Amino acid sequence: MKKIAILISGRGSNLEAIVSAKPACEIAVVVSNRPDALGLKFAEKQNIPTEVVDHKNFSSREAFDKALLETLKKYEPDLIVLAGFMRILTEKFINAYPRKVVNIHPSLLPAFTGLDTHQRAIDAGVRLHGCTVHFVTPELDHGPIIAQAAVPVLQGDSAESLAARVLEEEHRIYPMAIQWICKAECSINGNTVSLMGAAKDRGLSFYKC
Ligand code: GRF
Repeated sequence: MKKIAILISGRGSNLEAIVSAKPACEIAVVVSNRPDALGLKFAEKQNIPTEVVDHKNFSSREAFDKALLETLKKYEPDLIVLAGFMRILTEKFINAYPRKVVNIHPSLLPAFTGLDTHQRAIDAGVRLHGCTVHFVTPELDHGPIIAQAAVPVLQGDSAESLAARVLEEEHRIYPMAIQWICKAECSINGNTVSLMGAAKDRGLSFYKC
């Protein structure tokens, strides 16, 4: 069975969704860069090992990533799942786990990389917004896309109401994509991902209005 490490920074609702979905893998550890992350408490209650690598204790991104790599090494993860992990990882970190780091981003990539995606989607007047699960590459929010879910942007939406609609879909597609990886139902070809078996044709889904 594949071992996964889940990296968080805060509330951990995606972590909860992944744990509740019981994917075909062992959740070897939950690591947070913030000692007060709510998700740590949830992991402890589930008897999942936890670790804190507090970014405030390191003077550079490189030093933080080195400590993070050392912590992860103990658990020998096959997959690293970024679930609301709010640190940008260095190329060295990503190259230590090639094609083995995944992230969920709250937009339909390649639109709205970076932060404040919901407000930026509203300001741009798009009718569709959503979330993307992708493999992580050194270029921020640009790796091969595994799954996306689209939601409507409704008249009068605030960033908060739109974020809530997107989050519901995040909780659905992230566990699903992790399951596909654990069951070897997806493979990377260049910048695209091929889905096989039960995953085939399920990489895109729409919110049911
Ligand atoms: C999610 O919206 C995720 O897409 C973004 O940060 C948020 C984390 O939420 N990167 P949670 O900690 O999983 O509740």
